[in-house]
Amino acid sequence: MTQVRVAVLGASGWMGKVHTMAYQTFPHFFGTAGGTASVVAMVEENPKAAADLRFRAPGAKILRSWREAVDDPEVDLIDICLPDSLHYEVARAALLAGKHVYCEKPLADTAAQARELADIAAAKGLITRVGHAFARNPVHDLAREIIAAGEIGEIKMFKASQHVDIYGDPLAPFMWRADANLAPTGIIGDTGTHVFSFMDFLVGRVSELIADNFIVTPRRPVVAASGYGEQAALSGNEAWADVTNPDGCNILCRFANGARGLVDFSRAATGRKFQQTYEIYGTKGSLSYTYDEVNRLRFYSSADANGRRGFREIDVGPENETFRAFLPLPNFALGYNESKIIEAAEVIRSITSGQQMWPTFEAGHHICQIVDACMESSRLGRWVTLA
Ligand SMILES: NC(=O)c1ccc[n+]([C@@H]2O[C@H](COP(=O)([O-])OP(=O)(O)OC[C@H]3O[C@@H](n4cnc5c(N)ncnc54)[C@H](O)[C@@H]3O)[C@@H](O)[C@H]2O)c1
Repeated sequence: MTQVRVAVLGASGWMGKVHTMAYQTFPHFFGTAGGTASVVAMVEENPKAAADLRFRAPGAKILRSWREAVDDPEVDLIDICLPDSLHYEVARAALLAGKHVYCEKPLADTAAQARELADIAAAKGLITRVGHAFARNPVHDLAREIIAAGEIGEIKMFKASQHVDIYGDPLAPFMWRADANLAPTGIIGDTGTHVFSFMDFLVGRVSELIADNFIVTPRRPVVAASGYGEQAALSGNEAWADVTNPDGCNILCRFANGARGLVDFSRAATGRKFQQTYEIYGTKGSLSYTYDEVNRLRFYSSADANGRRGFREIDVGPENETFRAFLPLPNFALGYNESKIIEAAEVIRSITSGQQMWPTFEAGHHICQIVDACMESSRLGRWVTLA
C-alpha cells in the first residue's frame, strides 16, 4: 500500500484540523517514498462545526457517526481526534474491524483498556500510534542520542513541568476537559501524558510513584459555544457545572533504572501560557529543555575541561535530517504543527513499511499505567507500584 486511506474522527475540532492538514502537507517535506495519505472520510457529530469540512478535504465523505467510518472497507487508518472518553471504544472497534489506528492521547481511560487495545493490535498485526507529538520534535531525538551515547552517564534524576493557564481564571468557562464523564482523568490524561511520554522516550519505565491531584476551582460557568481556552463575557445567567476531574497534579516517582523523578503539571497556573520543561541529571552530565526555546537543548558535560564547564546551548538546525526537511536555515524554528506533520509522516511510513514507530499502543499502555497510578495514589494518599 502506498496511499493510505484515512478517516479523521472529530474532524472539526482542534486536533481534527491539525491532523487533516498534516496528512495533506507531509509529502511536501518528506516526499512520497514513505507513502502518501488521502483523507477519504471526516466524521463530525456537530453539524454546525462540520459546515466547512468539504473545503478541508475535497471529495471526502462527511459522516456523522464514527461507526460508519470504522465499517467502511475503503478506510485503512482510523484517526481518533475525539474527546478522551471515546478513545477506547472507537479504537477497539477499529482494530477489531482490521484498521490501523492513530489515536490522540490519552490512549484510553485506564491501563487495562490500553492493554486490551495493544493486545488486539498485536494479535492482528496492525500499526498503532498515540498522538504524543511534542516528543517528536527533533530536539528530543538529539536528547535521546546524547543519553544513548552515554554522554550524561547514568540518569539519576528527572524533573519536569507542564503548565497552562486556561483555568487560571476562576470564571473561565466549563468545557468537556473538566467533565470526568468525558475526560475521566482530567489534567493527568491531558497534559500529564505528554510529560509521561518524555519520561518513556528519554528515561525509561516508571516503577512506583506518589501523586497529589487537586482541583483549583470546583465550579465553572457554562457558556455555550465557547472554545478551548477562550475568555467569555458572562451575562450572569449562566448555569454552573462541577469540575469533576483534576486541574493539577504533583508527583514523586522512581524509575525501574533507579532514577528519581519530580513532576508537576496543571491547567490553572495563572500567566503560564504554555510552560513545558524537563531536566535530566546524570553521573557525567545533564540536559535541560524548555518549550520557550522550542528547538534548543542545553547540555552540560563533566568531560569538559575544569574551568570551561557550563551548559552549552545546542540549537537543532538543518544538520538534522528532520529539521532540514522543513527548513534549510538554522534558527527558523520548528513548532507544534511541524511536530504533528512529522507524526503524520511517521504514521503513514509505519503503515506502508509495516514497521511500528514510537509511541505505539505499547508505549500508550505504559503511559496509561502512570495515569492510573496517579489516580490511585492520590485517592489512597500513598505510594503505589506499577504492574
Ligand atoms: N497531542 C496533542 O498535543 C493534543 C492537543 C489537543 C488535544 N489533544 C487530544 O485530542 C483529542 C481531541 O481534542 P481537541 O482539542 O481536538 O477537542 P475539540 O473539542 O476541539 O474537538 C473534538 C471534536 O470531536 C467532535 N465530537 C465529539 N463527540 C463526537 C462523536 N461522538 N462523533 C463525532 N464527532 C464528535 C466535536 O464536535 C469536536 O469537533 C482529545 O483526546 C485531546 O486530549 C491532543
